[in-house]
Amino acid sequence: MKKTPYPAKITALGVYVPPRELTNADLEKMVDTSNEWIVERTGIRVRHLVEPGVAASDLAVCAARRALTERGIPAAEIEALVVGTVTPDMFYPSTACLVQHKLGIPKTWGYDLSAGCSGFIYALASGAALIGSGMHEKVLVIGTDVNSAMIDYTDRNTCVLFGDGAGAVLLEPAAPGENYGIIDQLHEIDGAGGPFLCRPGGGSLHPAWKPETTPQMHFVHQDGQQVFKFAVRKMAEICVQILERNGLSGKDVDCFIPHQANLRIITATAERLQLPDSKVIVNIGEYGNTTAATIPLAMETARRQGRLKRGDMVLLAAVGAGFTSGATLLRWAI
Ligand code: ACO
Repeated sequence: MKKTPYPAKITALGVYVPPRELTNADLEKMVDTSNEWIVERTGIRVRHLVEPGVAASDLAVCAARRALTERGIPAAEIEALVVGTVTPDMFYPSTACLVQHKLGIPKTWGYDLSAGCSGFIYALASGAALIGSGMHEKVLVIGTDVNSAMIDYTDRNTCVLFGDGAGAVLLEPAAPGENYGIIDQLHEIDGAGGPFLCRPGGGSLHPAWKPETTPQMHFVHQDGQQVFKFAVRKMAEICVQILERNGLSGKDVDCFIPHQANLRIITATAERLQLPDSKVIVNIGEYGNTTAATIPLAMETARRQGRLKRGDMVLLAAVGAGFTSGATLLRWAI
């Protein structure tokens, strides 16, 4: 075991979304909805969907390759992979194993992690622990989801919300005395919220082969209002909590990168933190909710727009199925 008792820092970022677009106009032809309703209630205009046969591991590999290229290292240097996803290619082997094989990494290990829309933040926490404990010096953290495989495109309550995508970051230990990297993390789960956002079919409780397991049970079910109420309250709560326990307030945040589930949830959180629009990253209009991929995708949007620079104080936050929630405070290192 190598001894690297230093905080983890993000040293590279890569993202990928499939090229095919599903617009609000397309959805108007599929279900009883309208562009106005979707934009007003969610902020979403377009989502990107995979072609048939493309799975979560494929998107993850594309994002991972971009992160490795940015850092200028071969895949062989990756010591561990943590993959956040709720749409793995299959129950097992894990998506991490599939990604390892497709990237051709000869000696590594890794695992999947299921935390709904908090998947990236939880995977980041797990990867950071592998670095902070001294176990590893190069950990690839990936959020990847092919939501289109789990969505009923006749259900207007869910089909307008989700898209497909992936994002990957490389974690490495900060050098001694270096002021970059993860400062603090806060996570919480509340299983009482489980029924409000779930995909009940196909697991050990409702095996796919049982006659009473209906095809509907394999789709995502959501009580939107219940999830919305919880998300609005919890996003603000965890953000305030993590800032306060570090002696900070919204004024100290340079860049707020929230999970992208609904523009109204993001706006309500930003208002509570008294953050001006210039510090809040929003790309839900372009991608919809890509579950574990939203935060790395939003990091890339922030970079592209010149709103994320080395040394910036960054706040990440997400709430998702479970319920799960999490926030990360870090100083951007790239
Ligand atoms: N088009 C038109 N009308 C619609 C649509 C649609 N696509 N979807 C629902 N409606 C209708 C409903 O049927 C309802 O009609 P009714 O009043 O006649 O019954 C009406 O609009 C209002 O429905 P609400 O559910 O109250 O709408 P709301 O304003 O709450 O918006 C939404 C729904 C967008 C789903 C919102 O509740 C939301 O964003 N929830 C949170 C989603 C989220 O954060 N998910 C967590 C992450 S996901 C994860 O972890 C995997």
